[in-house]
Amino acid sequence: MVYQADPARYQQMEYRRCGHSGLKLPAISLGLWHNFGDTSAPDTGRQLVRRAFDLGITHFDLANNYGPPPGAAEHLYGRLLREDLHPWRDELIISSKAGYTMWEGPYGDWGSRKYLIASLDQSLKRLGLEYVDIFYHHRPDPDTPLQETMAALDHVVRQGKALYVGLSNYPAALADRATEILNQLGTPCLIHQPKYSMFERQPEQGLLELLAQKGVGSIAFSPLAGGQLTDRYLNGIPADSRAASASRFLNPEQITAEKLVKVRHLNALAQRRGQKLSQMALAWVMRDDRVTSVLIGASKTSQLDDAVGMLANRQFSAEERAAIEAILAD
Ligand SMILES: NC(=O)c1ccc[n+]([C@@H]2O[C@H](COP(=O)([O-])OP(=O)(O)OC[C@H]3O[C@@H](n4cnc5c(N)ncnc54)[C@H](OP(=O)(O)O)[C@@H]3O)[C@@H](O)[C@H]2O)c1
Repeated sequence: MVYQADPARYQQMEYRRCGHSGLKLPAISLGLWHNFGDTSAPDTGRQLVRRAFDLGITHFDLANNYGPPPGAAEHLYGRLLREDLHPWRDELIISSKAGYTMWEGPYGDWGSRKYLIASLDQSLKRLGLEYVDIFYHHRPDPDTPLQETMAALDHVVRQGKALYVGLSNYPAALADRATEILNQLGTPCLIHQPKYSMFERQPEQGLLELLAQKGVGSIAFSPLAGGQLTDRYLNGIPADSRAASASRFLNPEQITAEKLVKVRHLNALAQRRGQKLSQMALAWVMRDDRVTSVLIGASKTSQLDDAVGMLANRQFSAEERAAIEAILAD
């Protein structure tokens, strides 16, 4: 069936300014790391992308290596753009990244100018686009001079192949130096993409503060800890879950009894608030104004509905915040 975007798509989403830039991002963004590879049903990806856009999720996050195999998610999203979303290209913020292993030999990984520029060209071909909206360096490279990596980001913007640039997984001190270099080059850093959730608090140790000072936005990836901060694993490991899948990023051994105790307490608190645990976990990440958007993954369209439903109940009382801290600290 030919896709027609829902005319009401902008009514329930909130759009938040990304740092000091002119760009607004949806409070909830969709990442294509899982469920968009060749091992997933292509129709699942199509349903997720259509539903997301219908809910006002204008930002789709990709990387060169998302699959499996690497590149497959960009291929699929490129197809969905051609077949479904093409008329709405100017209503979309599409990001990609380079920084992890993509092809063999010394030029398919890390942070050299050679790798970043070649990789973005490959991503654009897979996506069938002339430019991406945001291009990230995916992880710091201990061996390449930071100046070279940042100059490559500046270069792709000047080439018109990316509108904005971002950093991911950069610790605070390195992000500080990188954003200074980008400022000097005249291509300010738009956004930082750190891992941030109730189970992953590292960005609170200086990174979020630095980004606020520098006027750089942030988008929190894996805000549900890959599904652990949901009701998914309360009664075992469902066969269709990430932990049961071939993903090497979440396996049954990580769903420990100790973690499940916390999850049960958090789930009870979410129920008292009249929402699902997944919704409370997203609202909790967004309690901090320095977070521009939460970057979720989804395997079902109902999970997107859950995420957007969170927006109706985002506030926490001081008691609720303290109760969450106590559960997490236990
Ligand atoms: N920059 C980086 O280095 C980096 C690294 C990782 C991720 N990312 C980005 O962040 C995005 C999100 O990462 P993520 O997928 O780990 O995020 P996440 O939101 O923490 O986890 C998503 C998973 O949680 C489960 N889930 C979501 N909503 C649910 C609900 N309402 N009820 C029950 N379960 C629910 C689903 O798992 P099931 O499959 O079990 O249903 C879903 O696939 C990625 O796609 C990628 O764009 C970036």
